[in-house]
Amino acid sequence: MNVKDKIVLVTGAAQGIGQALCVRFQAEGARRVIVSDRNASGAEAVARQIGGLAIPCDVTQADEVAAMVAKVHAEIGSIDLYCSNAGIIEPDPDFHNAASASEASWARSWAVNVMGHVYAARAVLPSMIARRQGGILNTVSAAGLLSQIGSATYSTTKHAALGFTEHLAIAHRDDNIHVAALCPQGVDTAMTRGASAKEPALLDGLLSPEAVADSVITGLAERHFLILPHPQVLSYVRHKAADTDRWIGGMAKLRRNSKG
Ligand SMILES: NC(=O)c1ccc[n+]([C@@H]2O[C@H](COP(=O)([O-])OP(=O)(O)OC[C@H]3O[C@@H](n4cnc5c(N)ncnc54)[C@H](O)[C@@H]3O)[C@@H](O)[C@H]2O)c1
Repeated sequence: MNVKDKIVLVTGAAQGIGQALCVRFQAEGARRVIVSDRNASGAEAVARQIGGLAIPCDVTQADEVAAMVAKVHAEIGSIDLYCSNAGIIEPDPDFHNAASASEASWARSWAVNVMGHVYAARAVLPSMIARRQGGILNTVSAAGLLSQIGSATYSTTKHAALGFTEHLAIAHRDDNIHVAALCPQGVDTAMTRGASAKEPALLDGLLSPEAVADSVITGLAERHFLILPHPQVLSYVRHKAADTDRWIGGMAKLRRNSKG
C-alpha cells in the first residue's frame, strides 16, 4: 500500500512512534491523517502540526473505538489504513519474580496491547471487507516474537497481539486486506527513556521514531506481514526457532548481565 491520497488513522499518536507515523504519512501525501490518542491535547498538537484531524479515544473502550471509526466514515470517508499503535509497558514489580505483576497490571496491559487491536479490527473490517481493500498495521514489538526481559505482562500481551495479527492476516488475505505487524526493538521514545543501556532490548541501539516510520513506508509498499525496523530481529527469530533451548539459555544470560 502507498498512503498517497489515502485516509489513515493512527492511535497512540500524541507522541513517539505514532506521532512519527502521522508526520510521515502526511509528508507522503495522505488525503487525511487522523491523529488519535487518549491524550486529547497531545493529539490536538500533532494534528495542528500536520494539518490532520485529532480524535481523542481510549483504545481499551470498544464503544469509543467504534464511535471514532463511525465518525471518520461519516464525515471524511472510509479508512484505508488503520494503525493500531497505542501500547503500554509495565515492568515486573519484583525483577526476581517473573509472576509478581498485579491483577490490575495484567488487566491494563491486556486491555491496551491486545484488546485495542481487537476493537480496531472489529470496527474497520466490515467496510474493508465490503470494499475489498484496506490495511491494518498493528504495532506489536520484537518482544512479541522474542521476549521482554523484566516484563511478563509486556512479553505475554505482545505475543498475544502478534497471534491476533497473524490470525487477521490469514483470515483476510483473500479479502485483499493487507495486515502487518510492526515489531521494532528499542525506539527512542518516552517508553524507553530512563531505561538502562544494559537493557537487553536496547543492546542493538535505539532507533529514532522517524527511522521506524521509514520501515513502515517500505513494509507497506512491499506488502510484508512482518515489518522489522531492526533487521537483526529476523536472525534472532530464526535462531529461536532452530534451537529454542539454546535461545532460552542466551536470554537468561542477557537477563543476568542486564542487572550485573
Ligand atoms: N519505544 C520502543 O522501544 C518500542 C519498541 C517496540 C514496540 N513499541 C510499541 O510501539 C507503540 C508506541 O510506543 P511508543 O514507544 O511510541 O510509546 P509512547 O509511550 O511514547 O507513546 C504511546 C502513546 O500511546 C498512548 N496510549 C497509551 N494507552 C492508550 C490508550 N488506552 N488509548 C489511547 N492511547 C493510548 C499514550 O498516550 C502515548 O501517546 C506501543 O505499542 C509500544 O508497545 C515501542
